[in-house]
Amino acid sequence: MVIPFEEEYRKKFYALEEEIFNSNFWSEGDILKRFEDAFGEYVKLGARAVSNGGSGLLAILEYIGVEGKEVLVPSNTFWADARAVKLAGGIPVYVDCNKEDLCMSFEDMKAKITENTKAVVVVHIGGHIAFQIEEIAQFCKEKNLYLVEDCAHVHGAWWRGKTGGHYGFAGSYSFYATKTMPLGDGGMVVSKDKDFLKWVEKYRNYGKEVIDGHVYYKLSNGFNFRMSEFSAALGIVQMERLDKILEFKRELAEKYDQIFEKRVVFPSGMKSGYYKYVVFDTPLKEETGQVFGEGDLGHKIDEIKIELPNSSWIAKHHKCVPIYYGYKYANGSIEELAHRLLGEKKDE
Ligand SMILES: Cc1ncc(COP(=O)(O)O)c(C=O)c1O
Repeated sequence: MVIPFEEEYRKKFYALEEEIFNSNFWSEGDILKRFEDAFGEYVKLGARAVSNGGSGLLAILEYIGVEGKEVLVPSNTFWADARAVKLAGGIPVYVDCNKEDLCMSFEDMKAKITENTKAVVVVHIGGHIAFQIEEIAQFCKEKNLYLVEDCAHVHGAWWRGKTGGHYGFAGSYSFYATKTMPLGDGGMVVSKDKDFLKWVEKYRNYGKEVIDGHVYYKLSNGFNFRMSEFSAALGIVQMERLDKILEFKRELAEKYDQIFEKRVVFPSGMKSGYYKYVVFDTPLKEETGQVFGEGDLGHKIDEIKIELPNSSWIAKHHKCVPIYYGYKYANGSIEELAHRLLGEKKDE
């Protein structure tokens, strides 16, 4: 995989770096606010930057208060979700996924609810919105459970006017180096809840609060989860590139849709951000591995003896076709592309 960054955007980034040097604020400055505003406007939610996607999840769970409480998490995800629950003092309860979307199964989620359940973490795996998110959100509302969205993969996905972070109490995006919008490292917490967003400003900065020129530390759990001005500067530039990145991925996905039959098929009207392009039981000549494999399954890592058949099935049966921005594919026919990826003509 490559991470391209064109000359015109490099120049924009260098100009912002110059601004940082001249402003003398290398952290907690104006550039961070500009990045937060741009991202917030894009996702149509309030946004606060943090050091990475994992710390964003932790911030949300710490605010909700999950100590001693059960938090439902998918097994088929990155370990960040269960780790964040544990760091916040909660108990991760592993839920199975659907074969169709790789995301949390509403049916298994309902079966795992107990009197001690406080929150549910849904992960929009692979760049599309979890197919059952509306049912899950409605259920959580009725049962007074907090819904947290792990948006690490979902940049640029939309469904019925909503994107990642619209369904639950809050969501956490990741800007890790291989993500759709990379900053190297970085994260963004998004929410409609203004009190929570104010709290994040303190939480990410050791709980520090300045009132009438006096510094106070009122949070017992704050730590350093800040994003520096330099990362935020890259974030501003990446926001400008995001549509271009998404366009590239969507164009390629349209071709792939004509080549691959056993693939994730989205519900009507859903636009994926195509962090990944997932196919099932298809031997590939070129691939970028798996979204998550057997070794990533949370219940296996924690050595919990439960059966989550769909999660195990997904780990065994899926692969990702290259769809990263900068993937060099010939602009030839669908047949040529099929030959390159499958080693055979589509209709052979
Ligand atoms: C589903 C998921 N959640 C959370 C994270 C954590 O994000 P970060 O690496 O920015 O902490 C990742 C990957 O990086 C991820 O894939």
